[in-house]
Amino acid sequence: MPPEIQLNNAAVASFDAPLLAIALADNPNTSAVTDLDAALGGSLKRAIDGRDFRGARDETLQFSGLESGPRRILLVGMGKIEDRAGSLRRAAAIAARQARKLGSTHVAFHAGALTAPEIEAVAVGLIAGGWEYKDLKTPPPEEERRAPLARATILAETNDASVKALESGVAIGAGHSLARTLAFMPGNLCTPDFLASTAKEITDRHGMKLTVLGRKEMTDEGMGSFLSVAQGTPQDPKLIAIEYSGGKPGDKPVTLVGKGLCFDSGGISIKPAQSMEDMKYDMCGAAGVLGALDAIGRMKLPINVVGLIGATTNMPSGTASNPGDVVKSHLGKFIEIINTDAEGRLVLADVLSYARRFNPAVVIDAATLTGAIVIALGHTATGVFGTDEKLIAEVMAAGKKAGEPGWAMPLWDDYKDLIKSDVADIKNSGGRPAGAVTAAMFLKEFTEEYPWIHLDIAGTAYSEHDLVAIPKGPTGVPTGTFVEFVRGRLT
Ligand code: BES
Ligand code: MN
Ligand code: ZN
Repeated sequence: MPPEIQLNNAAVASFDAPLLAIALADNPNTSAVTDLDAALGGSLKRAIDGRDFRGARDETLQFSGLESGPRRILLVGMGKIEDRAGSLRRAAAIAARQARKLGSTHVAFHAGALTAPEIEAVAVGLIAGGWEYKDLKTPPPEEERRAPLARATILAETNDASVKALESGVAIGAGHSLARTLAFMPGNLCTPDFLASTAKEITDRHGMKLTVLGRKEMTDEGMGSFLSVAQGTPQDPKLIAIEYSGGKPGDKPVTLVGKGLCFDSGGISIKPAQSMEDMKYDMCGAAGVLGALDAIGRMKLPINVVGLIGATTNMPSGTASNPGDVVKSHLGKFIEIINTDAEGRLVLADVLSYARRFNPAVVIDAATLTGAIVIALGHTATGVFGTDEKLIAEVMAAGKKAGEPGWAMPLWDDYKDLIKSDVADIKNSGGRPAGAVTAAMFLKEFTEEYPWIHLDIAGTAYSEHDLVAIPKGPTGVPTGTFVEFVRGRLT
């Protein structure tokens, strides 16, 4: 359960909470918390003047607080501020994470005066920092259990705008948390069936339309590319289509597409065992679509949105596809399968072709598509691929706003030679050079009828290490980018 978040305009020094977090920029001054500092006998000021706390990004200092009011005080540094909302989101996540570690049931967050977008960001951060997935851990004996973080209070003015901002922050936080939970769940629990039932729960709750195609329906549709990936697994693959009609009837929908490989073993081109368990995260694109649709539904955004997910697993077996096989895609193009581990593009090819029937205003797909994007951009930026400069800028701005930065990659026809096939129209792998670009070039072949952007999130959707604001595991990317893009399209 996420913490219940409230706004309160009480004075910092008197607010009753087991933990009070104070977010400060670099070279802070204590003028915003003079009352508290006086109550603490000047120790805040001493810590700052003595350079024990400098307000550097992610720096923290914890004090013992007062007998009543705030019992513990956590200073969280935000560094040099370029994007205050972004810095506050991060500081709030650190605060909530620390509260959870301490077993504080309640954290109060203070950062001086907050604008509405900043309140939203703080709420998103508090929920992100409070997120955890404990379903598969046996709880310790009662006396050793730490209390869950049940409440968070943002110390800020309560007015219509701030209440509304809190609501959207809670909605986005819920979407993020859903995406992270789905991603973190092991592949034997988060199956294509499970993604479909999650989509059912979301669409029922928000009154959205849901269509789910299984192996049979996809066969009838002629989705030979998607089905070639699914032919090695006994699990029923699912093409999940969610239609949210918040806008005017007939308005072209923003269409969000996610790769939903609940496990990617590589298939016959099997992967090495090292870190193969991380391939449960190969459905983070799909998780982002579900998270974003849930957030958009909660916010009741006045716009039409379609979410599409291609869900299956990629397994080696006697019925699996083999390197050298040629399949006919939904669009009609013939594809030579060079490497069965380049399966995401095979799934997405047919989902992107299927997207045409929704008459999309724009299609954005997100996929943990290539190891090559990790080599190119590391774990810092999502790879952004497109041909329309304006649209690229629009998506990059949305990512930046969400704290999920992207970086534009080339998508030039010069790269097309690398995926020419001897026997078919196109092959599914161009080998190692420009691996992230050739994967995107492949998708481009199936997206000619609408404006389109591809996000390669293989480096950004999950982390192999504990980060300051986020534990090892899923980051929530691309949920926020999707939400901000859709919000940016409101007229
Ligand atoms: N799901 C992987 C990409 C991936 C790699 C995601 C590392 C996250 C971390 C994808 O299906 C894949 O296996 N891609 C291959 C493509 C190659 C065979 C052309 C890759 O990147 O090696
Ligand atoms: Mn693969
Ligand atoms: Zn994959």
